[in-house]
Amino acid sequence: MLYLTRIEHFNAAHKLYNNDWSREKNEEVFGKCANENWHGHNYELYVTIKGEPHPETGFLFDVKKLSVIINQSVIEKLDHKNLNMDVDFMRGKMCSTENLAKAIWQELIRALPPQVKLHAIKLYETPRIYVEYFGE
Ligand code: NI
Repeated sequence: MLYLTRIEHFNAAHKLYNNDWSREKNEEVFGKCANENWHGHNYELYVTIKGEPHPETGFLFDVKKLSVIINQSVIEKLDHKNLNMDVDFMRGKMCSTENLAKAIWQELIRALPPQVKLHAIKLYETPRIYVEYFGE
């Protein structure tokens, strides 16, 4: 089995805030991410697919096509957007990196051709913090 990763980038604003809690508790739990007037992150998205190289091309999948699919299905919906307000597939969810990674997985599964097997999503919120999701 061979694994191929394409890296994409987006910037987005968000706020982590539970309306059932006091402002103090939100600030205690979410820290700077609870800031009332939003803040942004420079996200790095690693999309890994798996399979075997095609005998005629030597490719697992055309990486340019993979990039187009990732951009059309998720990056265009996320880049320079407010995750809490602008993104249909994040509506009603806490906009944590964990939930965002799971939602991106669901969008990509729908967008990828059936022969392409998604292996992992790795989503960096900062250079030091990332989430991995393998679909289970
Ligand atoms: Ni944040």
